[in-house]
Amino acid sequence: MKRILTGITPSGYPHLGNYIGAIKPSLDLLDEKCESFLFIADHHALIKVWDPAKLKELTHQVAMAWLASGLDPRKTFFYRQSDIPEITELAWILSCVTEKGLLNRAHAYKAAIDANKESGKKDIEEGISTGLFTYPLLMACDILCPNATHVPVGKDQQQHLEMTRDIAHKFNNRYGEVFNLPEAVIGDEKTVLGIDGRKMSKSYNNIIPLLGSEKDLKKSVMKIVTNSQEPGEKKEWKDNILFSIYSAFANEASLNEMKHKFEDGIGWGDAKTIVFQELNELIAPIRENFEKQKGDLNYIEDVLQENGKKVRETTKPLLEKVKSLIGIGSF
Ligand code: TRP
Repeated sequence: MKRILTGITPSGYPHLGNYIGAIKPSLDLLDEKCESFLFIADHHALIKVWDPAKLKELTHQVAMAWLASGLDPRKTFFYRQSDIPEITELAWILSCVTEKGLLNRAHAYKAAIDANKESGKKDIEEGISTGLFTYPLLMACDILCPNATHVPVGKDQQQHLEMTRDIAHKFNNRYGEVFNLPEAVIGDEKTVLGIDGRKMSKSYNNIIPLLGSEKDLKKSVMKIVTNSQEPGEKKEWKDNILFSIYSAFANEASLNEMKHKFEDGIGWGDAKTIVFQELNELIAPIRENFEKQKGDLNYIEDVLQENGKKVRETTKPLLEKVKSLIGIGSF
């Protein structure tokens, strides 16, 4: 049986890019014939989020984003990474199997080094935590601890999946077959652009929020960067930020209509109003679910606790097996 697993790091407020790129595809993939493990990677968030109240708030937001988008916690193992201690225990064990050189090649670490070089730092490792460096290793343990077979992720995570397979293979070779070699499931979702035309990302401060008010949504759509063309002037839809954002969620027919409107010289304000209205139709039901459930912290805590217990029915025996194979444990 397929065992699907994916996680979202709560290092920012959930946004349209998360919904299109991760939340929706992870829910669409689920069917009767597979088990699914969806979790909130709060340990991963510690790399960037140092304000404890903020971390709790963002963890809650990500949990709510999934639930409000239709995740059924009776059919899916839906949990918080930090509630599964076997993951971090496995992380130490697998760190002793993982060559440091493998982690040296990780994109995020290399990017941090490059940024230090560019800004002329004498010590190119300055400010880079060991957590950032070993991030792919913890991610491998997220996947290997429940022994997932399929991992839906964005293209930017493909390297992490290759590392996971590498680490699993090394362990299996050294000690015996324990881990599946999980496959990345790379969807054909488009990268959702942010309001400034770069990839939508919390780190660029260019997001369209998923759980904000209608007013917040409108504000962010109105801020999408356009140019100084006047109403009546023909507009190019190719490489246009507004059009690209629209194409992340609109259907073929609406897109064609919008292309014609661009050619006919629609004003930017009017085009943004259409994008806002359709986006609002998509997001309104999610927002309503969120508004209904957000105050009930006990409900969400119960859901996570109960699911965490069920996940540990898988992760505890796996860790026992690992420990018996490597020579750790009681006499
Ligand atoms: N690194 C992923 C991201 O930033 C989040 C994540 C953490 C994850 N652990 C995972 C995704 C395990 C898939 C499987 O998007």
